[in-house]
Amino acid sequence: MRAQFSDNHATKNLCEGAIVTRSQKEATSTLDIISHSSAQTQRLGMRLGDLLRGGELILLDGQLGTGKTTFTQGLAKGMGITEIVSSPTFTLLKEYQGQSATTTRLDHDKFPDQASLTQRVGPILYHFDLYRLEDPEEVVDLGFEDYFFGSGTCVVEWADKADLLWPNEQLRIRLKMMSETKRGLLLTATGLRYCELLQQFQKNTYATTSS
Ligand SMILES: Nc1ncnc2c1ncn2[C@@H]1O[C@H](COP(=O)(O)OP(=O)(O)OP(=O)(O)O)[C@@H](O)[C@H]1O
Ligand SMILES: [Mg+2]
Repeated sequence: MRAQFSDNHATKNLCEGAIVTRSQKEATSTLDIISHSSAQTQRLGMRLGDLLRGGELILLDGQLGTGKTTFTQGLAKGMGITEIVSSPTFTLLKEYQGQSATTTRLDHDKFPDQASLTQRVGPILYHFDLYRLEDPEEVVDLGFEDYFFGSGTCVVEWADKADLLWPNEQLRIRLKMMSETKRGLLLTATGLRYCELLQQFQKNTYATTSS
């Protein structure tokens, strides 16, 4: 299976082995992407952020400087967040209010002076960075678990520092340094909801897919 990256800024073939594999029994899917620049990693984040509606758990792993924060910055943009996202290294958690706009057409008879109503609503983004976590139990002590099962969207950098705590259903993204500007992103979805999310992400990211 080959896939073409659909992006106004980058139309050439940018991924190798961009394959969604599915295991019905375990409901897992994987997608392998290569990013050639930080701008491209941000755009990938944006495409995912655009699909998030709240309640998702996205776990990011990879060595220092592989692009976890860069990806999260794009993801926040995709969620309509205008604030600048930076790594919460010292605080472990930063919170951003989502801002996706929805426009509802109003009944002309009931609201003759107003054609539509725009509501600014969107899930909160909880951005964790567990780099400085010494003991996974700290996550529990700090009450972070409530967030992982809440209505906001959680993105966790250095998620492997607390690997035993994560619920089974999740989207895991492993970033790998391939060269100064090249990064490998391996996305693994577990659970039906995340498999569907990953499939939609793949559809939106790649224009054409041929065998
Ligand atoms: N293809 C790429 N994708 C993402 N970042 C890239 C890429 N190429 C170069 N970079 C650079 O790599 C750096 C990634 O930094 P970033 O803070 O996002 O990494 P991180 O994984 O969050 O690191 P940390 O573990 O320290 O939190 C940035 O300086 C970015 O410009
Ligand atoms: Mg970071």
